[in-house]
Amino acid sequence: MRKWSDFAGRPPSFIANLISLGGKDLSLGNYTPTWRRQRKLAHLAFQSSLRGDMEQTKTLWKPDFISQQVFRGYGGQPVDVARDFSLHACGVITTVVFGPLDAVVVEEMHDCMIELVKAWGAASVKLLDFLPILKIFPNPSFRHLLSCIKSRDAFVQSQMKKHQESQGSSGTQNMVDHMLQFLKDHDTGKWGDTGLLPDHVHMAIVDLLIGGTDTTATLLTWAVVFLLHCPEIQERIHEELMAVVGLHREPTYRDRQRLPHLSAAIAETLRLRPSAPLALPHMTIRDTRYYIFDSRYGTTVIPNLYGAHHDGSIWPHPLEFRPERFLEEEEEEEEASSKAQRHLVPFSCGARVCLGESLARMESFLFLAHLLRDFQILPSAPGELPDLRGRFDFLVHCKPFAVRLVPRRVSDAAERGHHRPEEQKARAAVTGVSAWSSAEPNPHPQRAMKSEGPIFQPLLLLQPRGES
Ligand code: HEM
Repeated sequence: MRKWSDFAGRPPSFIANLISLGGKDLSLGNYTPTWRRQRKLAHLAFQSSLRGDMEQTKTLWKPDFISQQVFRGYGGQPVDVARDFSLHACGVITTVVFGPLDAVVVEEMHDCMIELVKAWGAASVKLLDFLPILKIFPNPSFRHLLSCIKSRDAFVQSQMKKHQESQGSSGTQNMVDHMLQFLKDHDTGKWGDTGLLPDHVHMAIVDLLIGGTDTTATLLTWAVVFLLHCPEIQERIHEELMAVVGLHREPTYRDRQRLPHLSAAIAETLRLRPSAPLALPHMTIRDTRYYIFDSRYGTTVIPNLYGAHHDGSIWPHPLEFRPERFLEEEEEEEEASSKAQRHLVPFSCGARVCLGESLARMESFLFLAHLLRDFQILPSAPGELPDLRGRFDFLVHCKPFAVRLVPRRVSDAAERGHHRPEEQKARAAVTGVSAWSSAEPNPHPQRAMKSEGPIFQPLLLLQPRGES
């Protein structure tokens, strides 16, 4: 593909138009000059709210809070953690967008966005994209979607109003402040005529809230699933965390270079289960060519990220969970590992690359670093492992499962700074899961675990639309 921008459009859709204040959406908006300004504004505001220094943002939310207060509270009993993960991700993105909010408000907003996406996915709603005229017939799912949109808009408007009223009083700190300041500057003529309206800011906020919640939560949940299937990899990461971070400080994003096993496990999870396996539909904005395919203007193109991540000519043993493909322990592995990094595209690429990639990477790293240092993740009962076949819709969710988060013996380990091998063996006797220390040879060969076969082929699907 020569020009990414040729494929940067989005196909028109009745529902997308309806849910985006008449087509003012960032994720679903077509590639127009106004859209480009909207994306640039959202990107700049996003980066500014992260204050250009990713490290500082970790003070905006507390991965240690959820691990200490919520997970410890479960007392090692079997629980379904998917909702906790989702609420955590939602808390992070709302903090970046609005600044800190009350937990009850975050939960309400979270439930509203999740309901909205669910209602949008209903078959009777999707049908309206093909035959919008059907909207005149009674359709409870469509009615539900409209009521979710109403609640969403009320929430976003009330937050925008609050920030508008307090603008300037506490400095420009979060994303919504940055964007509102831009609109204000534009009104005074400083930025010239951008064509951007408060509705564009409104919809950019909605996209960040929706885009930043379930995608990241899905990644975290799959990481837990794979680590349950591969306890020896989980122990290796824990050992690495103890050796590099220990218990006397919190992990930081700067630690990632020194925590290669954790970084590799996240990369491998994103490879096997890219949260959005078919990204979002693209549309060609001019006549163009993709390899041997000629595509007319207006062709819908679906990037098959899942297929690309399972291509056997790029990924040896593509169905197996093998984080070591991203490790460069030996010199000769360097080339293979950087090739793996290059071919990993869970956030897509080009003009429509995920806007929240940097946040998602940092958030998942910090969250899992806390979780895997402080807890041992065990199946709800010995041998009861979660299903590896996901539910494929817009995202690839895992089926509900219960897990036990058993607090590591913090006080003992803190005194010694490390677990002793005999301590590990004793714990293994209690938990039924064996562990090993980096001080002794790994008694388990790196057990690779097979996931199910690929569901899609590694091709782009081209679907011509109308006449050229
Ligand atoms: C593991 C986490 C995530 C994954 C795997 C992911 C993946 C993706 C993918 C595949 C796309 C579609 C790109 C395309 O059209 O080709 C996308 C778009 C987008 N994502 Fe993410 N995402 C994640 C997290 C986030 C977060 C945390 C945010 C918000 C802070 C976010 C905001 C967006 C937005 C706004 C778009 C639309 C971009 C556009 O159309 O120009 N995402 N994401």
